[in-house]
Amino acid sequence: MQKIRVGVVFGGKSVEHEISIVSALQAMAALNQEKYSVTPIYISKDGIWYTGEKLTDIEAYRKLPELLAACQKIVPAINSDERQYYIPKQGMFAKWLQEQIDIMLPIFHGSHGEDGCMQGVFELMNIPYAGPGVLGAAVGMDKIMMKAVLKDAGLPMVPYVWFTGFRWTEEQNAVIGEIERELGYPVIVKPANLGSSIGIGKAANREELVDAIELAVSFSSRIVVEKMVEHLREINCSVLGDVEYAEASVCEEPVAAKDILTYADKYMKDSSGKTGDSKGMASLSRQIPAPISEDLTKRIQDYAKKTFIALDGSGVSRIDFLLNGDSEEVFVNEINTIPGSLSFYLWQATGKDFGQLLDKLIELALKRNREKNRLTYSYDGNILAGGNFGGLKGCKK
Ligand SMILES: Nc1ncnc2c1ncn2[C@@H]1O[C@H](COP(=O)(O)OP(=O)(O)O)[C@@H](O)[C@H]1O
Ligand SMILES: [Mg+2]
Repeated sequence: MQKIRVGVVFGGKSVEHEISIVSALQAMAALNQEKYSVTPIYISKDGIWYTGEKLTDIEAYRKLPELLAACQKIVPAINSDERQYYIPKQGMFAKWLQEQIDIMLPIFHGSHGEDGCMQGVFELMNIPYAGPGVLGAAVGMDKIMMKAVLKDAGLPMVPYVWFTGFRWTEEQNAVIGEIERELGYPVIVKPANLGSSIGIGKAANREELVDAIELAVSFSSRIVVEKMVEHLREINCSVLGDVEYAEASVCEEPVAAKDILTYADKYMKDSSGKTGDSKGMASLSRQIPAPISEDLTKRIQDYAKKTFIALDGSGVSRIDFLLNGDSEEVFVNEINTIPGSLSFYLWQATGKDFGQLLDKLIELALKRNREKNRLTYSYDGNILAGGNFGGLKGCKK
């Protein structure tokens, strides 16, 4: 049987570039070699696409210029149904080389990869791809859009206020007044469309609020300010499937060194807990399953599935919750539509190993593409062939 040719696409123009490399290399190592032939496709921070065997070696990324010199630049063929990429010709008489891919497995975190941009490229190519579609990815990436949808779906959200960077410069006092009236202190200030805690700050008074907003607007033109959850515990739950059938994993409780999980907490710890080697989300200190009651676990799993479906989820997502450890009030914080390490460690604890998780993602991607191609996009036949153009006759000059 011919193997399915899987393109694992990762890197990209995102503050979470390095984390994406780690997640992608973990996934490539776990893909079943009997079923799949894997092509690594790396997108550099300046947006150039590369392929090459060395891209599966984490050590090679220490010397990036040397690694890229040993790889080939490629361009995706966005003509529908070609399902290939081209290797540009080298030298005058050489030809462009074409390489076929059957399915794309995008493993990006953050902008350009998890926000719908890459998904749009794959839609144009009409190639099956794993994970969220354009809509789910885009809405899930923007905290303001995401909150509006989840509130509408009746899910429990922390009270919040949002505004644009433009409005902040135009009417700072009105914005501060609104925050103080609606939320009071303390609050958490976030850029609406980043991740990994970048640009996030806490404010307990007006002065700190202004500082935190100034920081956030340097990262994004869309800002959200939330009431701070007291006695905070964080609980995460992964969901796998699509809007027709989705299952929830066991829950985890990540353990933070400080009160806000920082970028370093999340990604820079080695197994001894020292900051240093980057091993991705899987190395964060965490408790699995989360030490919470069965009742609360069920409630969180139910909210996680509803969140996934409301946001047009597909593939594997991780939904993060904020829990008031005192009152047991729980709020949906956010969805990660392409979570760090693809949340494989949560599925492992639920009874599916990483290879089986990837099989499922590929199966879901093929199913969605089949269904998409069954829908009617246009009528055969050319209306323009029929001929009565009325007043449009003068088009030709
Ligand atoms: N409303 C809140 N109350 C208390 N802590 C919060 C709140 N929102 C976020 N945090 C803390 O900040 C961290 C990062 O926020 P989050 O919304 O998850 O942003 P990111 O997309 O960068 O991961 C959370 O993991 C949590 O520790
Ligand atoms: Mg988060």
